[in-house]
Amino acid sequence: MSKHARPDRPIHDLLARRWSPYAFDDRPVSAEDALSLFEAARWAASSYNEQPWRFIAALRTDAAAFDKVLSCLVEANRQWAQHAGLLALGVIRTTFSRNDKPNRVALHDLGLAAANLTFEATARGLYVHQMAGIDPDAARRLFHVPEGHEVATAIAVGYRTPDSRLSGELRERETTPRARKALREFVFGDDWNEPAAFVPARVSGT
Ligand SMILES: Cc1cc2nc3c(=O)[nH]c(=O)nc-3n(C[C@H](O)[C@H](O)[C@H](O)COP(=O)(O)O)c2cc1C
Repeated sequence: MSKHARPDRPIHDLLARRWSPYAFDDRPVSAEDALSLFEAARWAASSYNEQPWRFIAALRTDAAAFDKVLSCLVEANRQWAQHAGLLALGVIRTTFSRNDKPNRVALHDLGLAAANLTFEATARGLYVHQMAGIDPDAARRLFHVPEGHEVATAIAVGYRTPDSRLSGELRERETTPRARKALREFVFGDDWNEPAAFVPARVSGT
């Protein structure tokens, strides 16, 4: 069963192929691939070019480091993320280094870096599953994350394996068709909730 997007309009194949699997193969992710993923993240846009993202990353081939990152995930995520080839925690610096004022878009920019990383991964035949389900306090303690920084997310990267490896709720989630809001529900024009003029009122099948 394909979980590729079924877009209403043409989009780039890399975007259509991306989705967040639970069934990861135990195949390792190479250091070369990992370096290119973070290189892709490095070239993301950011407000004032602050680059407020930081990543704490470990390959599964480095068992001690990998388990340390894994221990910062909530149990429900640990269950499947333990099979990923690469785990990373996404951290933001919450103020601008130029003036120490709050950077209210730091989380946005971490998201852009994560998106860059994700599409580089997709181009390399890898899958990414991002997580909010982490224990930020544990991560702060274990990795000595300093004041002025927040541990926000985690990212699992790896190769996919057939969903038959999963059971119960994870299997269910893995095989549930993907759903999305229609453009008219989030692209507004003249007023809140008013679809922008260029957005058709209804697309067949939505
Ligand atoms: C910031 C963020 C946090 C997420 N947190 C979790 C999580 O803690 N556990 C989980 O299983 N999936 C998590 N997801 C995955 C989403 O559930 C998934 O992206 C969403 O259902 C859409 O599916 P798709 O990525 O396959 O299109 C997260 C995704 C993002 C972007």
